[in-house]
Amino acid sequence: MGFSYKNHILYAESVAITDLIDAYESPLYVYSRTDIENNWYEFDQAFGTHPHLVCYAVKANSNLAVLNVLSKIGSGFDIVSIGELERVLFAGADASRCVFSGVAKTKFEIKRALEVGIFCFNVESMAEMNRIEQVAKDMGTQAQISLRINPNVDAKTHPYISTGLKENKFGVDIDDVVPIYRMAHNSPYLAVKGLNCHIGSQLVEVSPFLDALDKVLELVAKLDKINIRITHLDLGGGIGIKYNNEQIIDINAYIASILDKVKMNDLKIILEPGRAVVGNAGVFVTKVEFLKQNSDKSFAIIDGAMNDLLRPAFYQTYHQVLPVNENAKGVDANWDLVGPICETGDFLAKNRKLSLSEGDYLALMSTGAYGFTMSSNYNSRPRVAEVMVSGNQHTLVRERETIQDLFNKEHIIND
Ligand code: LLP
Repeated sequence: MGFSYKNHILYAESVAITDLIDAYESPLYVYSRTDIENNWYEFDQAFGTHPHLVCYAVKANSNLAVLNVLSKIGSGFDIVSIGELERVLFAGADASRCVFSGVAKTKFEIKRALEVGIFCFNVESMAEMNRIEQVAKDMGTQAQISLRINPNVDAKTHPYISTGLKENKFGVDIDDVVPIYRMAHNSPYLAVKGLNCHIGSQLVEVSPFLDALDKVLELVAKLDKINIRITHLDLGGGIGIKYNNEQIIDINAYIASILDKVKMNDLKIILEPGRAVVGNAGVFVTKVEFLKQNSDKSFAIIDGAMNDLLRPAFYQTYHQVLPVNENAKGVDANWDLVGPICETGDFLAKNRKLSLSEGDYLALMSTGAYGFTMSSNYNSRPRVAEVMVSGNQHTLVRERETIQDLFNKEHIIND
């Protein structure tokens, strides 16, 4: 466990969070390198000797240090933009271990991905496939492709992060796969390699994953009959993590049941976990600025806000709140943690039983995924710093933005 109490002070590995606050101030994201590595290894090792590739989903946390640490242990990457592609390359990733997802890759992105030699494009529509073919043709090369199917299964998660239902914008209908792949098969510029799906995020049950896999395997057999050989399946990400008391998926059992279904053939399996690798490996540290009582509500106004950590405001998600100093005694109440932003939706937690004083520090747990990456400069707030801890070492892996950073790309009109 990367985060635990020692002598009533919250530690990241062997470093007291209080020391990190002294060094880097607040608010602050703190990541545990050991947790990130162990989480990735859990996926990798569960496959044993079966051909596989664990492609970390960069969108969950795209800090260069995170990408570098993962690339050093052999991770592949699931990218969705040229920005993510350049990030992983800069962080030392091997392009041939990257898959490119996303519904609307531009010609420019496709060209660059072909130039550096990514492993595969996860294609989301016929129109996108045609575009990839055209770019490959112009470059006199061949693109490896995998069609993302929409298996129409209910991931039973928050509607905003559910992606495998017919009404969602992702993937192609199962019935359209054979005609699209017949066409691709006849193109000298496309190499049909895989099938993929990603049905949603923060899934806490295995059955929707396995239902989707069954549908994908039916297609593999159908394609095989017309001599189109699929060599890999990419089953996306989506494994949920414990934010509160939820029962979560056992990763070993999940991968064992995938292997059980595919053992008849030697299909390589790709997974794209994001949250499960970094979610619980990060915390967001914030300071209590003021305590405020309005009628019967108790507000702790903190220095962190929805621009730093959007998830609670956007999806009404829960993050556990822990005091950095467990012994701190203050006013006992059920506090709403609210930020300085001028929006009623600017809260990071609601109704939490805590004993608080002004100047206390709190940690919002399980914020390593979709925390910093979804942050913004709303209300002209500089983005916070990010720190990575490894044993008793800590490194500033992203500097706190300065005021100058806020507008150094803007121009006033001279007239
Ligand atoms: N692969 C694809 C194609 C995806 O769209 C996603 C996430 C992943 C992999 C990684 O999924 P994960 O293993 O992290 O669940 N902002 C939301 C989550 C959005 C997920 C989008 N796609 C949140 O804060 O909960």
